[in-house]
Amino acid sequence: MHQLNQWHPGYSVFVKELDDHHKELFNLLNELYDAYLQNSHKEKVGSIISRLFDYTTIHFAAEESYFVKFEYEQTSQHKKEHQQFLDKIKTFQADYSKNSTVLTLQIINFLHEWIHHHIMNTDRNYIICFQKGGLK
Ligand SMILES: [Fe+2]
Repeated sequence: MHQLNQWHPGYSVFVKELDDHHKELFNLLNELYDAYLQNSHKEKVGSIISRLFDYTTIHFAAEESYFVKFEYEQTSQHKKEHQQFLDKIKTFQADYSKNSTVLTLQIINFLHEWIHHHIMNTDRNYIICFQKGGLK
């Protein structure tokens, strides 16, 4: 399978559950990239995108539940980023299923860049707060 990127320890947010989620997000991105390179059927690509959307929704909800629990001060900005990303996938998904768009490298790159940037920047900001709360 062709790989776009892989989770590595530099991505760690020092919470096993959330690191595992991030690993799975990279797995799903790699699956999407591989499907693109293999010129896979629309149904296959569509189902990977659905899984990416569902998994991201679950993952964001987990992070956000810790924001509430540990009274994280950057909650609203962080949640806004999550929502914008989900909206973006939703729009792409709707266009894709209506046949008005194709899966392109540009879209894959957008998803990859967003996830990379979010984990390396926005997510880093909650590390100290979560550690103070005793989360591992
Ligand atoms: Fe996040």
